[in-house]
This record gives sequence, structure tokens and C-alpha cells, in this order.
Amino acid sequence: MKILVSDALSTEGLDYLRRYGEVDFKPDITPDQLVAEIGAYDALVVRSRTKANAEVIEAAENLKVIGRAGVGVDNIDVDKATEKGIIVVNAPGGNTISAAEHAIALLTSLARNIAVANSSVKRGEWKRSDHIGVELNHKVLGVVGLGRIGSEVARRARAMGMKIVGYDPYISEEQAEKLGVEMADFESLIRQADFITLHLPLGSSTHHLIGEKEIAMFKPGVRIVNCARGGLIDEDALYAALKDGRVAGAALDVFEQEPPEDCRLLELDNVIATPHLGALTREAQVNVARQVSEQVIKALQGDPIVSAVNVPALMPEAREALEPFLPLMRVMGSFYLQMFGGSVDEIELTYSGEIAAMPLAPMTISCLIGFLRHVVGDGVNWVNAPYIAKARGITVKESSTTEAKNYNNLITLTARSGSEEHHLSGTLLNNEMRIVRVDEYRIEIIPSRYMLVTTHHDRPGVVGKIGTLLGSESVNIASMQLGRKTAGGEAMMVLQVDEEMNEHTLEKVKGLDVIDTARFVEMQNSIFRVE
Ligand code: NAD
Ligand code: MLT
Repeated sequence: MKILVSDALSTEGLDYLRRYGEVDFKPDITPDQLVAEIGAYDALVVRSRTKANAEVIEAAENLKVIGRAGVGVDNIDVDKATEKGIIVVNAPGGNTISAAEHAIALLTSLARNIAVANSSVKRGEWKRSDHIGVELNHKVLGVVGLGRIGSEVARRARAMGMKIVGYDPYISEEQAEKLGVEMADFESLIRQADFITLHLPLGSSTHHLIGEKEIAMFKPGVRIVNCARGGLIDEDALYAALKDGRVAGAALDVFEQEPPEDCRLLELDNVIATPHLGALTREAQVNVARQVSEQVIKALQGDPIVSAVNVPALMPEAREALEPFLPLMRVMGSFYLQMFGGSVDEIELTYSGEIAAMPLAPMTISCLIGFLRHVVGDGVNWVNAPYIAKARGITVKESSTTEAKNYNNLITLTARSGSEEHHLSGTLLNNEMRIVRVDEYRIEIIPSRYMLVTTHHDRPGVVGKIGTLLGSESVNIASMQLGRKTAGGEAMMVLQVDEEMNEHTLEKVKGLDVIDTARFVEMQNSIFRVE
């Protein structure tokens, strides 16, 4: 395994990677060199300096994983990586405490004018009344983004007597209650806060989250801390508001451009600036380097990853419980496509029984892999299967219920194309996979490599005729299952045979007067294997 580390990384991370692969450590590599060289590598490990953009990813012919030693992945084109089937992992949690402590340091420094007073004293001045501060006690702190860092900041600020108001569209009231945070909508938060601190990711929807319009709603004299990402605040709008006093102070660890160039904010005394120091503690750097290196190696070895950005994270315990279901889901996807075709607009998966309590995404993705391998080939994997489905106009739906009639677990795949729909249900019986329903046929199909699936009218002599024909064609039948809608009505027969059936034999089967339809279904060996 060839691993390129293109940013500074603590030795703990480098040593770990070296135990598993050949590591090139090039913390000064230029963007052009990166594009020229990336093709040779299986893994790329970055911090924030390297921009793993579309051009780099396009050139990365062998790349399987990009590791980000840190949280924010705004320097990685995750969509492009997903499209190319490249896993992106980060190191969440490793720098949470450091970043939260830095935000608190900035908050208290802002309240008590520490930075400007420090410079003044060092210049030989003693102007105490110029640096009168404000207390944090009883003030409203608006925390935007209540994830790992936002939550830790909220905890610490509460201990200092602040009232915490939070905004995070993805956090439940219960979680907020546990943190002692009163949830509000964004506008109400910025209207009432005495201090605002940002702890959310930068993306197209959060770029310039705070601009002129939002600043106009601020409580006069508000102070703002940004320890998340520069682009969250429109720096020109903030400059104007700091200049005329509508905003009393800003403490910024991050900037739209880093290092900042011609940034007027740095001219202002009511601005505290640090050079993206949030995660720069000895502890955090060791934590993130270790965490990302472990995840990169796991991704390369096909082991479960807990901090993937573009694949569902699967904790080892969950994987163990899900493992037997993953091949079943692939088989169902593949069987469905071969029976009914791949032109569908919607795939719906219903999980019933004990399985409803498990993480569903890995099973759904497994089914999509089985389905899409016939359409786009082996290039479909854990990372890009949902992307490919979406790109092909297939809506994927999941639902679950703890009730499963007759089975401990039952998974039903329904796919629709316009007004047409077909169903397939599968389960595990004593840990062995079975397809137990195909449209209206109740049947117990044992999925195997080669299967002949026929429909006919339920009457004596059908099995004999087909057996004789296959015998004369030297096709050995390994086992057989039958299912029918009603006695004497439409019936389905599945024959497991020892080898691939040629077109000529299949045509002969179709030509039998007792047979209505015949289809040969083949499961690639890779369908039964879970990567
Ligand atoms: P996290 O994923 O645990 O938390 C982010 C939170 O933001 C989530 O709860 C999410 O629901 C919320 N969120 C997403 N969109 C939102 C929106 N539009 N409005 C409000 N909330 C929204 O991440 P984290 O570890 O807490 O890190 C938060 C940010 O801090 C990241 O952007 C990261 O890059 C940055 N960070 C900076 C430093 C530094 O050195 N200054 C260090 C670590 C992390
Ligand atoms: C992060 O997102 O983890 C921080 O900004 C720290 C870093 O960029 O290294």
C-alpha cells in the first residue's frame, strides 16, 4: 500500500501508517506536484493545507481513501471522491476539547479586552479605564452549531453563569435539554445574544451565514467568536459593523483566506485574531493523527470505519450483527434486476422484525450494490452506490417496522417503474439466506450461483418434462423449489443447476409447452462476498 502524507502530521500518525504501508511524507508538496504524483498512491492523508480538489481526485487513479487529520472536510471535494468511489475519513472528536477551550479563551479575552490591554501594557502604557470589560455572568451566549465542539463550549459557558441559547437544525430538543441549552431559531438567537459563537461546518448553505442582513438584526454591542470556519462570516460586513460599533468585538481564529491577505479586520483594536489555533495543542494533534491513520488503514484493509464522511459509519458490534444480512441484500438486488430489469425510478426497502432496530443504511447500500453491479459493473462500491443510484434517477426509500409476520426478520424490496411494480422478500433461516416471495409467489428459494426460474400452470408432469429436457442437455440439477399462487393456478419453479446455461438450452426450456416463462439468473461470486 502506498500512502502519501501531504501535510504536517504528528509522528504518532506517521509511525502507525509506516507499520502497514510505504509512506511518502511530503508536507511541502505543491498543488501541481500533487496532481502529477497522486496517481501512484492508494491513500492520501491531509490536514487543511492540501486541497484535495476535483483535479487531484480525477488524477488519483489508484486512490481508495483520503484521510483528513481534523474535522472540517471543506478542503476535500467529497462529492467528487464519492463519485469516484473513494472513501473520505476524518478524525472527529480528537480536537473537540482543544477547539472548545480555544473558543472559551477567545470569549473571555473578548469580554475583558485581554489582547488589546496586553499590547498596551507592553508598549509601556497603563490605561486601565480604556479597557473596561463586561461580565459573562447572566449574559446570553448564542451557540450556532451544537455538535461536539458547540456542546463542549455550551457546558463550559454555563459553568461561567451564562444563559445558553442554541441553534442547530439537526439536534433534538432532548439533546439540547440535557446540555441545558434553550433552542431557538437562527433569527431569534442572533436578536437576543450578547455573545455569539459559531461551531458549524462551512458549506454552500452556510457560506456567509452571517452577513449584512444578519448583522442588522444583532443586539447592539454584541461580541462574536468564530473558531469554526472563515467563510461563515462575510468579513466586509463584519468590518463595517465593528468600525461603527454595532458589533463591539470579534475574536477570530479562522479567516476566509488563510493566511489572511489585505484583511482590514486585522487593523481593528476590537478584533482578536489567532492563526487557526483551535486544534493546535499537543494533545489534539496526537489524537487526530492517530485517529485518522487508524481509519485510513482500516479503509484500505476493508475493515469497518467509524469516521467515514461519505459512507455510513458502522461500529464493529453493529457490523457483526449485520454481517449475515449484507450478502442477502446483495443477492436480492441482483436477483431483482435479473428477474425484472433495471429500468426503475424507485427502490423501496422495508425492514420488518428484529432487524428494524439495526442501522439500515449498510443493508440498503448492499442491495444497491447487488442491483447496480449489473448496470455499471464492478466499479460500484460502498461509497458510490447511493450516488450512482441518484445519478440514474432512482429514488431510494427505507422503512422499518418491528412486526414481521411468520419470520423473525423479513426484508421486502419493491421497485417501481411508472405504474409497474414488483416485489421480492428475503430472510435468513438459521443464518441461511432465502428469497421467500417473488411478486405473488410464496416460495423458498435457496440463492445459488446458477438458477433457472420458470413460471408455469400448476399441473402434473411439468417437473418431469423439464427434468428430462435438462438431462438430455447434460445440465445437472442440484436442487429445486416450487411455489404457487393457488393449487392448479400459476406457479413458479426455481432450479439450482451446476453450471451456466447456454442460450440454446434456455430457448428449448422456453419452448416446452408446459412452460410460460423461463429466465436464467446468475449470481456473481462477488455478490456473496462482503468487502
Ligand atoms: P460536528 O459535526 O460535531 O458539529 C457541527 C454541528 O453543526 C452539527 O451538530 C450540525 O448539526 C450543525 N450544523 C450543520 N449545519 C448547520 C446550520 N446550517 N446551522 C446550525 N448548525 C448546523 O463538528 P465539530 O467537531 O463540532 O466541529 C465544528 C466546526 O468546527 C467544523 O466546521 C470544524 O471544521 C471546525 N473546527 C475548527 C477548529 C479550529 O482549529 N479552529 C478545530 C476543530 C473544528
Ligand atoms: C479542523 O477542522 O479539524 C480544524 O480546523 C483543525 C485543522 O484544520 O487542522
